[in-house]
Amino acid sequence: MQSRAYASRLPRLASPHRVANSEPSDQKTVMSRIPEAEILPITANLSDSGRLAIGGCDVRDLVEQYGSPLYIYDEATLRDVCRDFVGSFTAEYPNTHIEYSSKAFANPAVSKIIEEEGLDMDVVTGGELAVAIAADFPAERMNFHGNNKGREELVEALRYGIGLITLDSFAEIELLNEVAGELGVKQQVMLRLSPSIDPHTHMLTSTGILDSKFGFSIETGDAEVAVKQALEQDNLDVVGVHFHLGSPIFELEPYSEAIDYVLKFSADMRDKYGLDLKRFSPGGGFAIGYVSDTLPPAMSDYAKEIAVAIRKGCDTYGLDEPIVSVEPGRAIVGRAGVAVYTVGGIKTIPDVRTYVSVDGGMGDNIRPALYDSEYAVVPVDRPNAVRNQIVTVAGKFCESGDVLARDVDLPEVETGELLALPASGAYCLMMASNYNMQTRPAVVMVNDGEARLIRRRETYSDLLASSLDLD
Ligand code: LLP
Repeated sequence: MQSRAYASRLPRLASPHRVANSEPSDQKTVMSRIPEAEILPITANLSDSGRLAIGGCDVRDLVEQYGSPLYIYDEATLRDVCRDFVGSFTAEYPNTHIEYSSKAFANPAVSKIIEEEGLDMDVVTGGELAVAIAADFPAERMNFHGNNKGREELVEALRYGIGLITLDSFAEIELLNEVAGELGVKQQVMLRLSPSIDPHTHMLTSTGILDSKFGFSIETGDAEVAVKQALEQDNLDVVGVHFHLGSPIFELEPYSEAIDYVLKFSADMRDKYGLDLKRFSPGGGFAIGYVSDTLPPAMSDYAKEIAVAIRKGCDTYGLDEPIVSVEPGRAIVGRAGVAVYTVGGIKTIPDVRTYVSVDGGMGDNIRPALYDSEYAVVPVDRPNAVRNQIVTVAGKFCESGDVLARDVDLPEVETGELLALPASGAYCLMMASNYNMQTRPAVVMVNDGEARLIRRRETYSDLLASSLDLD
């Protein structure tokens, strides 16, 4: 298969990078427990030299080999989380599909693992679709989301034979019907509904409230018009409805509240227009721990809340139990990824603040600047050292808002030291930019003492190519 060939072309690290004792004894684990253990990848450990190791690889060795900043993804964590999702949800509701929302980290090597673990996958642009196609991701296990899909993107998706398209506007209903007609396809679709329910997360990542660009609002009556209109199209097969409240959602109740409301609406649409709810999705949004003192509910708790609410709603409103899909992005890749930076200048302003500047920042992780997101910081060379200093870790971009972690506890930091930010696997590199013409970092996947490059560091030639290619 093409994707296997792709994987085998990726360089692998030779054994020197293997951490000799990567299977810790219980004693070692207890004695050397890293304070951030619950938010780092599950393989995070101390190397024999007392440094942070992930996937059996010493993090400083990885940076020496691949450069800094470096994003490290742990394959064991990724697979473990996929299995946790599948196990937790199918235990509560067997007919559940776990659909990885690839916007969190779209990458062919990750897509391949998602495929091997039996998950479905969604995309929101032609670019994410191209990544899925590059990984040979099975078309019938894919869903095309997004609030403003273009004609070219829809044509590409239909040519690939995509299983589902989730429609988000009246214009899209018409456009897809037209495109499907031209290609001679009857396309299975879902409708994205907006239930006007607040999941109590950051305003910029709330998507299911009334004042949102996403979805057909049930409250305004748009959703009813959309159901009627979609059912009337010759080339569309409406198989169900979907909503996504936002993310990250640390509470369980918003899911059950919205599920009840949307199932009630679906039953109403069945009675009025004959909608047959074969498929239902309460979206994604499952939280992860970014800092050790704010941990999310267990996956099994989310699964139970959702399954119980769907069963109850179907029972109350006389619906057959549909196929369910949930769409985690962050919760699949977030914990698996760790960003590593090198400390440069250190500036102390007496009685005010100490700024520790690193060689990345808002160009590879804009989340703190955009959402005030918090990150923990782990000193790579001595994760267990006493943290006797409060500092602010700033980036290298020409913005005062370019701060990665404000007021974090660290030991006395030195220039040249490496700092790791756990929980950097979702939405950091995907929202990265070339601001200040900074190249974007390399990404390695580690597993069992070996590392492979899954995305190379950008070069200045990459930055110039799109301009100089013009003549
Ligand atoms: N499904 C739909 C329809 C979505 O719009 C999203 C996220 C997801 C699933 C996946 O949500 P997740 O499970 O990853 O929370 N850039 C922001 C997150 C924006 C997510 C937008 N939609 C961040 O960095 O937190």
